[in-house]
Amino acid sequence: MHSKGIAWGMLFLCGILHSSETSQTLKDAYRGKFVIGAALNEAQITGRDAREAALVEQEFNSISPENALKWESVHPKPGVYSFDVPDRYVAFGAKHKMFVVGHTLIWHNQTPEWVFRDEKGSLVDRETLLKRMHDHIATVVGRYKGRIQSWDVVNEVLNDDGSLRQSLWLKIIGPDYIAKAFQYAHEADPKARLTYNDYSLENPVKRSGALALIKMLKGEGVPITAVGLQGHLSLTWPSIADEDETVGAFADAGVKVAITELDIDVLPRPDADHTAEVTRSIQQDPALNPYAGGLPEVVQGQLAQRYKDLFRIYLKHRNAIDRVTLWGVTDADSWLNDWPVKGRTSYPLLFDRVGQPKMAHRSVLQAVEEVGQ
Ligand code: XIL
Repeated sequence: MHSKGIAWGMLFLCGILHSSETSQTLKDAYRGKFVIGAALNEAQITGRDAREAALVEQEFNSISPENALKWESVHPKPGVYSFDVPDRYVAFGAKHKMFVVGHTLIWHNQTPEWVFRDEKGSLVDRETLLKRMHDHIATVVGRYKGRIQSWDVVNEVLNDDGSLRQSLWLKIIGPDYIAKAFQYAHEADPKARLTYNDYSLENPVKRSGALALIKMLKGEGVPITAVGLQGHLSLTWPSIADEDETVGAFADAGVKVAITELDIDVLPRPDADHTAEVTRSIQQDPALNPYAGGLPEVVQGQLAQRYKDLFRIYLKHRNAIDRVTLWGVTDADSWLNDWPVKGRTSYPLLFDRVGQPKMAHRSVLQAVEEVGQ
């Protein structure tokens, strides 16, 4: 009798340990705190990569399109829209009841040159570009009205010193292009959450610029709901105190905070610049690719600790945080394998190259277990 009771007890305990160690998923662990997302590439969206599509379904309750909704993908030529992949992306999210993100409407990269030019190749005037911007936003946001819950309306509008980036949007339209983009998006889907997204806002100077911009936009009644911190981070940058202050400062400014493109680079950076400018390209060099044969256990541990420290901050600010989205699903598909140096072996995410959870996955779960309900 007695020994049978002990045996059942052991079995029960093993069951608990087993479930908390192996079968807890990110989305379930963070339910009630914030949604956890991943950026999907075309193979995952279309199901060509069935293993990763299944992993996304299992672990995440929000999705972002890594490239499918950028201007050059969805609107490659005047009057020509390419909705095949975006339609499948939105259907995937709806099927699994996910929080579906649109990335991105107005950006200086991955936008075709024709957008800014006339038939002779000269830059168009303000009215023409505003009309093109309006038509693009009305068409794309309008098509997914009620099915894309949140749009990155403008991406990377600030320089590192916090001033407005001299993009063709700014040069041709003037500084009110930002307010116009928000206004057009709001008209196309009044219920969608609208975000200004940027990198390195943890740097105090750029952060001040962003806070001033948000204050100005809110003062003018522009329908901005959130700031997106891209979160292309490294093992040492930013400090946890800076991350904490950054999220806190935006929350105090009255916007929600979304962590939109989280990844943590463990590879050496050839300079001290913390930019995520996608056009940057640095010469290949074996010294910059030290873990081609595998990630040493000690670095694996540092990555896990770093993820835990960051998620503790996100949890601390959970009332302000809308979502945390990882920029990719597994290490194999991270853009950091090819940026800023081509052909490296990178380890920035929570799942390894064959889709197995890494030590960092466990530490993200531990961060929320510490907090409890
Ligand atoms: C990256 C994609 O991951 C790559 O596949 C693409 O070649 C370039 O863009 N900031 C952003 C994202 O806002 O859209 C970028 O995504 C990464 C940096």
